[in-house]
Amino acid sequence: MSSLINDSFIKTLQLKKTSYTPVWIMRQAGRYLPEYRKTRANAGSFMDLCRNTDFATEVTLQPLDRYPLLDSAILFSDILTIPDAMNLGLDFVQGEGPQFSNPIQNESDAKKLDIPSMEKLSYVFDAVRSIKEALKNRVPLIGFAGSPWTLATYMIEGRGGTDFLTIKKMAYSRDDLIHHILKINAESVTQYLAEQIKAGVNAVMIFDSWGGALSHHDYEKYSLNYMKVIVQNLNLMGYEDIPKIIFTKGGGQWLKQQVSANPNAIGLDWQTSLSEARKITNNKVALQGNMDPSILLGSEKNIEHAVKKILDDYGEGEGHIFNLGHGITQFTEPEKVEIMLQVVREYSQQFH
Ligand code: CP3
Repeated sequence: MSSLINDSFIKTLQLKKTSYTPVWIMRQAGRYLPEYRKTRANAGSFMDLCRNTDFATEVTLQPLDRYPLLDSAILFSDILTIPDAMNLGLDFVQGEGPQFSNPIQNESDAKKLDIPSMEKLSYVFDAVRSIKEALKNRVPLIGFAGSPWTLATYMIEGRGGTDFLTIKKMAYSRDDLIHHILKINAESVTQYLAEQIKAGVNAVMIFDSWGGALSHHDYEKYSLNYMKVIVQNLNLMGYEDIPKIIFTKGGGQWLKQQVSANPNAIGLDWQTSLSEARKITNNKVALQGNMDPSILLGSEKNIEHAVKKILDDYGEGEGHIFNLGHGITQFTEPEKVEIMLQVVREYSQQFH
């Protein structure tokens, strides 16, 4: 790790001292960037972009080339690569998001499900190796996967943007089936992240985008416990030194429970106060977040104000990674991102 030229992100994950607050942006390579839209048009479909090593490398580096103040790269891929490799028939429908033509609808579908061969996902590990080479150790590279619960929502609902009634009906009537699926997902994610680590990623993040749809009594049972198993198993496999970030969107009320999963960092959305979260987590983990992405649609003056409020809220000391509370929207003007990054870099130095 010491070979990284800019290791402020990794140092913060280890709760070590840095001279400013590091920053990266969820979905930093994406449609708000004209250079991304150009490469995306050349690639054809979104999955073609992910599967082509050169294109995936190019788009991963685009935000870093545009914004020298970014402190990390994130692998360009998607959480749905795993269900795709499970033959559920993934298709990204223009303007409608992801859809599966063979979702899991009954016991027989669930029983047929298996951990995919990592061979099928080799395009992801090839992209990691190629991106690492292209980065020349400028900044670290984050690998990622979806949480078992979040993957299951897509695998069972068959699409995004639902009210989760199909998966909840299964959970509340066939607890055995849902746990069978979640177990397979957890083992698949563990193997997948281990392969990303072997290929060279410097940290891993588990996106639990829909854990917040669960009740207080069900969050640990269906979502957190499976993330816990992934963290534990990666550590048992000898990857204790690779920092692990968990992020449950809408999960700010379960921070104590999240600490028990033993991650290095917890991602926060914008509903949660960083100072409150810091008190609850007692400086045992780093905190990543948490500006509302729509702030970037507003004025320069308001962006500056909002960034400062977040940095003030965290306050003095180490352990904060600045980020948005969810992915950047495609309607963001790229110049607004530059302002956010400059304010983070300049204003955060007083706290370190
Ligand atoms: O952060 C990054 O820059 C890395 C790339 C990344 C993508 N998806 C690329 C992408 C990451 C980390 C993801 C994770 C992901 N994918 C999540 C978890 C994070 C979250 O947003 O909650 C989820 C739920 C998905 C599933 C997914 N992929 C959806 C719902 C969509 C369609 C909605 C949308 O924003 O378009 C995607 C497609 C997708 N994944 C795009 C990108 C850049 C847009 C596709 C395009 O270019 O047309």
